[in-house]
Amino acid sequence: MAVYKAVALVSKLTQAGAVVKVMMTESATKFVNPLSFQVMSKHDVYTDTFDEKDSNVIAHIDLADWADLIIVAPATANVIGKLANGIADNMVTTTLLATTKPVWIAPAMNVHMYEHPAVIRNIDRLYKDGIRFIEPSAGFLACGYVGKGRLEEPEKITALVAAFFQPKKLPLKGKKVIVSAGPTLERIDPVRYLSNFSSGKMGFAMAEAARDLGADVVLVHGPVSIPIPNGMRVISVESAEQMYEAILSEYDKADIVVKAAAVADYRPKHPATQKIKKTSTDQGLELERTTDILASLGAKKTHQLLVGFAAETNDVATYATGKLEKKNADFIIANDVSKTDRGFGSEQNTVTLYGRDFERAFPSMDKKQLAVQLFETILTQSGVAE
Ligand code: PMT
Repeated sequence: MAVYKAVALVSKLTQAGAVVKVMMTESATKFVNPLSFQVMSKHDVYTDTFDEKDSNVIAHIDLADWADLIIVAPATANVIGKLANGIADNMVTTTLLATTKPVWIAPAMNVHMYEHPAVIRNIDRLYKDGIRFIEPSAGFLACGYVGKGRLEEPEKITALVAAFFQPKKLPLKGKKVIVSAGPTLERIDPVRYLSNFSSGKMGFAMAEAARDLGADVVLVHGPVSIPIPNGMRVISVESAEQMYEAILSEYDKADIVVKAAAVADYRPKHPATQKIKKTSTDQGLELERTTDILASLGAKKTHQLLVGFAAETNDVATYATGKLEKKNADFIIANDVSKTDRGFGSEQNTVTLYGRDFERAFPSMDKKQLAVQLFETILTQSGVAE
């Protein structure tokens, strides 16, 4: 029975040095006496929102603020459903709604319940809310079934908690990383311009990943409408030329440059200073090449690690590896932008990372998660991190 494992979990976490305070739903108290948890944790056990043990505080708010991490183990389909829908009708669900700290959920239930569409829907919604899950293991279940639904072993959960509180490795500490993101905007006249569908999400995710790996980040971005990340120096530009100038001014001191921006290849050759009046006839627009920033950086490269992107709609591998050579880049991150669920503007992306003699395809995933995995792979492949 999963709730007995919870007693063992409290014991192991306490032995590992954690200070554990236990909250129980009324149903849980029908399986295990709260005294068992009190003995293991050497702290009061909270079972009733209105049973205030310390009149100076409101218990569920105090606990919500006190915790560094809240683990719901075992988590029933009921508590998962309540949390996914913001229901706060007992000590556990009330505290979970009041906390801003990380919440981990370790489901334990019958295999058919775990596979029920409603439970899957609730888990997916909680994942999107930032809650993380400790997957149940497969095996013999208390209800007599065999399948996935067993609360993960207390030893495994304890190890996950210990890893979570390990000081994060910061492989990019002291390194300077320049990231370009978003589109550029090339003016036709004071009211018209050429641009593209880049939202900046991929580049911003790369900049945040570099920041979280300890780097000093300079983010150079074109016009976007998504929130600007914090914890980094930000240079906002409009045109390809301005982006080039901004990156060049930082290039000498950079250790890594990531070019996620969708830089215009062409701009109007003669941008008008006044609004071009429409006429009864067709009009042409003469375009000229912009500076190929990545190629220029490749030509000037001394110590920098140069990472380009490739937005292709066909023959992705051919074009991407071609850019790697032609632009003297160290890595190219290629994405097939012909599909609407990835690349420009999407939350997710599907990329293949190409190095000189390296290739790794990544499954479709959230751009933020992908950015971390891309950086970790690039750092490992280039020897910057162990
Ligand atoms: O911003 P999002 O909405 O999240 O979309 C992400 C993205 C699709 C824009 C991103 O994943 C991406 O593919 N960025 C590169 C887009 C692009 O310009 O690809 P490209 O194949 O045209 O250019 C190849 C490389 O050369 C890129 O690193 C680009 O930054 C660079 N380049 C291109 C033209 C130019 N004049 N100067 C450059 O430096």
